[in-house]
Amino acid sequence: MARDGVVYRCRACDYQTPQWLGRCPQCGEWETLAALAKDGAAEAPEPSAKPQSLARIPPESAARCPSGLSEFDRVLGGGALAGSTVLMGGEPGVGKSTLMLQAAGELATRADRPWLYVSGEEAPAQIKLRASRLGIGDVDRLWVLGEQRLGAVTEAAREADAAGLVVDSIQTIFSGAVKDGPGSPHHVGEVAFELNRLAKGLGVPVFLIGHVTKEGEFAGPKAIEHLVDVALYLEGGRDGEVRILRAVKNRYGSTDEIGVFQMAEVGLREISDPSRFFTERAGEVKPGSVIVPSLEGSRPILVEIQSLVTGSRAAMPQRRTTGLDANRVAMLLAVVEKRLGLQIDRDDVYLNVAGGLSVRETAVDLGVAAAVASSYKNRAIDANTIVVGELGLSGELRRVRKLKERLSEAAKLGFQTAVVPEGTARVDDVELDVITATGLEEAIGYLGL
Ligand code: TYD
Ligand code: MG
Repeated sequence: MARDGVVYRCRACDYQTPQWLGRCPQCGEWETLAALAKDGAAEAPEPSAKPQSLARIPPESAARCPSGLSEFDRVLGGGALAGSTVLMGGEPGVGKSTLMLQAAGELATRADRPWLYVSGEEAPAQIKLRASRLGIGDVDRLWVLGEQRLGAVTEAAREADAAGLVVDSIQTIFSGAVKDGPGSPHHVGEVAFELNRLAKGLGVPVFLIGHVTKEGEFAGPKAIEHLVDVALYLEGGRDGEVRILRAVKNRYGSTDEIGVFQMAEVGLREISDPSRFFTERAGEVKPGSVIVPSLEGSRPILVEIQSLVTGSRAAMPQRRTTGLDANRVAMLLAVVEKRLGLQIDRDDVYLNVAGGLSVRETAVDLGVAAAVASSYKNRAIDANTIVVGELGLSGELRRVRKLKERLSEAAKLGFQTAVVPEGTARVDDVELDVITATGLEEAIGYLGL
């Protein structure tokens, strides 16, 4: 029954009614009707939640939904939480749709209600084709919807009593409430806001796919990171096969973990042993190559750093890095030049992390210096030796965190010797010969360079 004199107005289309309705009869949007105060000026508050004692709230009231794709779940912190929104950003063609369709297939297989995959980009027949290729073409509880209208999407989710939702992509979804065109920042923000409300209202996870342009300008979605609970980015070149999934924001977990995948004929394949994958070196080890145990979140990952130092014909010799921080590399090259006396000022120097991984840790400093020295002297570093350590400007070696975990990983893969900074906590129980060094010169000496 209508309250005396209270009028409800739709936030989307301004439709007014004396009675509260769940869905606006004019524009079809859900839960957009809010009471106007008597003077019609300000909106009266919606029925609000009651404060409660923190002590009485159960520890983790919302359930996690693991997909079973362990690299995917790891980055989410063990699966998406019920009622949360997850943004899946990435450049066009990187594999967002592929990964989310695979994940939705796995999630649907585990659910007792349907998972809804909404595409504003592809027709259901196209999605079916891809799903068949991914081996999830006949998952009963995976439902698809080709739709661009926000109202229709939310209605379908309610009607299906969906266990979760994937919206591909947020830029293609259209809300009648916004004057700017779909894909505009304002529009994308409004759609994200409503889908966030839907996630909370239904108590299910909602994944939003968002395209990032080449320049890293997240056309709209960058601006909605604050609206979502988790923001993930899928990275990796179009040409390379490796894809790295990272979180830049996670309300319910860490942002340090990465997921490693490989794009294959049958979609994204999990690389569950990244160290082996990134350090596979066929044949004899060449000068300029060295293995370094880096740390990604809680997980040590061995990577191969490669360097090529070669005489330059240019007035300004090249310094090119891939997968490493260029500023840090510039500093390390100066240290190498000064402390090891290498004349590289007339050389081009290229540095690369093999396999397309990006490593931002200072613990790889010694590896960068060793790779450069190895290439410069044209002498290979022993294939079974790894190096780790941060370098200071005076060439001193600094300790790194979690050394033991790094060395254990190396031992597991069959490496035999590690050159590490002195003063590190004892790591006796690791099955490696551990050589400690105080500075760059000493370490390079141990490597026989
Ligand atoms: P897609 O998921 O469509 O990228 P996005 O949604 O991020 O734009 O995947 C893009 C590329 O992945 C496409 O060029 C083809 C390739 N691909 C495979 O190599 N194997 C597969 O099984 C699938 C489905 C796609
Ligand atoms: Mg896509």
